[in-house]
Order: sequence, then C-alpha cells, then structure tokens
Amino acid sequence: MKKNRIIIFDTTLRDGEQCPGASMTLREKLEVARQLARLKVDVIEGGFPVISEGDFTAVSTIAKEIKGPTIAGLARCVPRDIEAAGKAVAPAGKKGRIHVFLATSKLHREFKRGTAHSQILKLAVEGVKRARNLVADVEFSPEDGSRTEPDFLAEVCQAVVDAGATTVNIPDTVGWAVPGQFGELIGHLHDSVPEFRSGKAIISVHCHNDLGMAVANSLAAVENGARQIECTVNGIGERAGNAALEELVMALKTREDYYEGLKCGIKTGEIVKSSRLVSRMSSFVVQRNKAIVGENAFAHSSGIHQDGIIKKRETYEIMDPEDVGWGQTELPLTKHSGRAAMAMRLKHLGFKLTDDEITNVFSRFKEIGDKKKFVYDDDLGALVDGQMTKVPETWVMEYVNVTSGNQTVPTATVRLRKAATGRAKKDTVLEDAGVGDGPVDAALKAIDRLTETRGRLKDYALRGVSQGKDALGEVSLKVDFGDGELVTGKGASTDVIEASAKAYLNAVNRHLNSRSRKKPARKKAKGQP
Ligand code: KIV
Ligand code: ZN
Repeated sequence: MKKNRIIIFDTTLRDGEQCPGASMTLREKLEVARQLARLKVDVIEGGFPVISEGDFTAVSTIAKEIKGPTIAGLARCVPRDIEAAGKAVAPAGKKGRIHVFLATSKLHREFKRGTAHSQILKLAVEGVKRARNLVADVEFSPEDGSRTEPDFLAEVCQAVVDAGATTVNIPDTVGWAVPGQFGELIGHLHDSVPEFRSGKAIISVHCHNDLGMAVANSLAAVENGARQIECTVNGIGERAGNAALEELVMALKTREDYYEGLKCGIKTGEIVKSSRLVSRMSSFVVQRNKAIVGENAFAHSSGIHQDGIIKKRETYEIMDPEDVGWGQTELPLTKHSGRAAMAMRLKHLGFKLTDDEITNVFSRFKEIGDKKKFVYDDDLGALVDGQMTKVPETWVMEYVNVTSGNQTVPTATVRLRKAATGRAKKDTVLEDAGVGDGPVDAALKAIDRLTETRGRLKDYALRGVSQGKDALGEVSLKVDFGDGELVTGKGASTDVIEASAKAYLNAVNRHLNSRSRKKPARKKAKGQP
C-alpha cells in the first residue's frame, strides 16, 4: 500500500445503523453494501456479530456476497465476541477483518471497568492474539482513545501492534476532540511506534460529530500520519453521527494542493447515489444544505453567483457537481415501457433483484405509470425500496378512503386482509373507520384498531420523490410500539394519505414480525452466536 493512500473504512452499516431509528433489514444492508462496493470503499464494517442474530447474518452474508472491499466485524475483547466475529467474516477469506475494541481512558478504566493499566494492556493483547488466530487482518480500537493519556495510549498501540494488530484505530468516541490537539495526539502516536512510521501497521481514526468537528478532526489526523479514516455515508451514526464520508473524500480531492497528494480510491461519481440509497434505506433524511449531497449543495440562488458561474464555473463553485454524481442524465420511463426496459434500468441503477421481485416492482411500476406521465430513476428507487422493506406481511392494505376538508371531521375507512394461517381456512378481512385531527391521523388510528396495536408516531417525513405535481410521495416514519425500540416504516404513492397509511402498516408488520421472532425459540440455530 502506498504511503499516501488513505484507506476509507465505512461503518454506515455498524456505527451508522446503531443510531436509534436507522435500523435496516438484511436486504437493505446488502443493497447498501453493494453500493459501497461500487463506491469503492476499502473496508465495510458490516455489524457487531455477537450482538444479535440479525447482525451476525448481515456480516456473514455481506462477507459471502460482496467482492472487493475488506469486510469487518466488530467485537469486544472477549472470546465469545471474537469468535462470533471470526465466524461471520470467514466467508470473505483473506478479506475478512476482526475489529476488537476495549476502553482505555481514565474515566472508563475507573468508572466502567475498574481496571488498572496493566490489566487493560493484558486484555487488549489477549484479544488481538485471539483474533489473529482466526484472521490475518486485525484492527484494535482503544475506545475513548482521544481522552486517554497520550503516553499510555502509545503504550497500548505498541502492545497491540506487537501482538499482531495491523491497524490501530483511535476513536474520538464522544466527539470531544478539537483538530489541533487531536492532530498532535496522532503525531505523538506516529512518532512513538516504529511500525506506524514504517507502514507495517496503520493508524486509523474514528471521529464522532458531537461538536461538529468529526471531519476536521479526521483531516487533522491524516495530516499527522493517520492513513485510515472511519466514516459513514451522510455522516449518520450514534448521537450527532460520525465523520461524513462524502465530505472527507471531497475535501481530500478538492484541496489536493493542501493535502499534498494524499489520495483515496473512492469513485466520487457514485457519491450522490450512495447518499440517496443510504437515506432511503436508513430513513434518515439528508438536510437540504448538507455539504456535497444536500439538495442545495450546488444550487446558486444569487444572481451575481449565477452570472459568475455561467461565465466561469470556478468563480463560485469549488467542485464540479457532476464529479460527485449530480445531474447524471436520465431518460424517464413511461407506462408504455416494458418489463425488459424497466429491468435494464434497474440493473443500470445497481439494483440486484430476483425475477419475482422484478415482476412485483413491474406491477407497481404499471400502477404508477397509469397515474403519472414519467417514471424517473428516483421513482424506481422508491418502488424497489418497497420491495426491500417488505417484511412478512401479516396485514395487507386493500384500500384506504378518506373524507377530509376544512369544514368536516377527517375520517378514514381502511380495509385490511390477513392471510389464512394454521387451521384457519379463510383469510381474515377487516374494515373499520377512524376519525382524527387530519386524514393521516384518522387512517393511522383505524389501522391501530384493526391490527390491535397502539403505535406512537415519533417521526414523520414526506418527500416528493421526483419532479412535477404528479410526483410520487414517499413517507418514512418511526413508530414507538412501547417496547423501547423505534420501528421504521416506508410507503410510496402518488396519494400522500395512501403513502402514509402504507408506511404505517409497514411499521406495524415489522413490529408484529419482530415480536413473533422474539418469542423464545425452542432450539437455537447451529453456529449462531
Ligand atoms: O465510537 C467508538 O468508540 C466506536 C468504537 C467501537 C470504534 O465506535
Ligand atoms: Zn463510534
């Protein structure tokens, strides 16, 4: 690996997915992982395998299916975690990495673990050695590294490198660092451990954004010898999030003059596509003024700026929007387009669907093709989303009718169908009406009654997917069903009330599905952690 090559370690599917309300299904994670591979990230951290059966399966499926990037699984410094991570990344062969972590700061040592310096060193070394018995590529993270005494941190780094760690990642776990000081800390580690200087081991950084400085801190670290950056698409992650991949990558590229030839392998033209996919899959809307990927990132409203740009783009634009994937021309499909044309477009957009799934998407495509003149790529994305977010549908919506206006009590009538299971020979079809503060509220109340659930809406976002008055409306919402988890739901339609009801029913089905999965299993599946 060249000394000036910056390794991009993407943790969208682990740290990003860990934040409340961003959880993704296996299908969604796999689709994101495919896009990350097209974006050409170097490492994909797929999850924390010991934590749940879902995380284990996600990491092992990604390790099996995704070619190109290294696939990492997270583990605490305990045998059970390390073994689960080793098993999960095994299908990636030489491209499997185990990422072990252990808190090292004084605060954590005293209040969390009650462990002395020597004990921390011992546990870290044991953890790394155990992981090295399973894979050749081992990363160690001293959690809360930025608040660990610099000399002790250097001692930990040397010990884990001697034990076989190939990457040592310094996390700013609570987003406390400031660029000058964090850069100095990385410089100190770089000078203290000969293997960092020789390139035998790599310093990585993992910065959280609590003070809005995750990207600045990561770049300061790079200036001082770090050669791997951990980040997430759209900066999603715990609390205020992680360093945003797109900002880091474009800072290095746009200010190549300053960063003196430091380069990463990211295919920048895939950035916007990745951002949109992650936003849809995680239900985290990207703020309009978000750097690089926000809708306003390249929108100039001032006449002076517009005039300048027409004369010479560089007067007011430091990046070419096309460089990050904005404005790639698309010829919209129409209701006359056939299944093959639609399937080809889906393939071009990078979706990998089975024949049955294409048939399902095609029937939805025909439905919306009847309602709107053009079907754009983003419309197709929303339809595929519906396919990915599909969970076993306990309840299927047959229809929703609403009466609403400014002089009537909003009322919604909803009819749902539940397929016959077990001894029941016939499907159950239920219909009920609800009244509410508005038509959406009325529809959701009717669904609550019919499905015997009681959800509290915690977040609701409506987005026009493509252009024009006939655009598809996509609703993403988060619901609290009272068991401490936020359940996401998504739905799209040219009718926003229908989209809302579909999204809510999607969340209800997810909730019912996970509740039935949580019932104690009679027998644990072999090989699962
Ligand atoms: O923020 C953090 O410290 C982490 C570690 C597990 C790397 O996410
Ligand atoms: Zn983190």
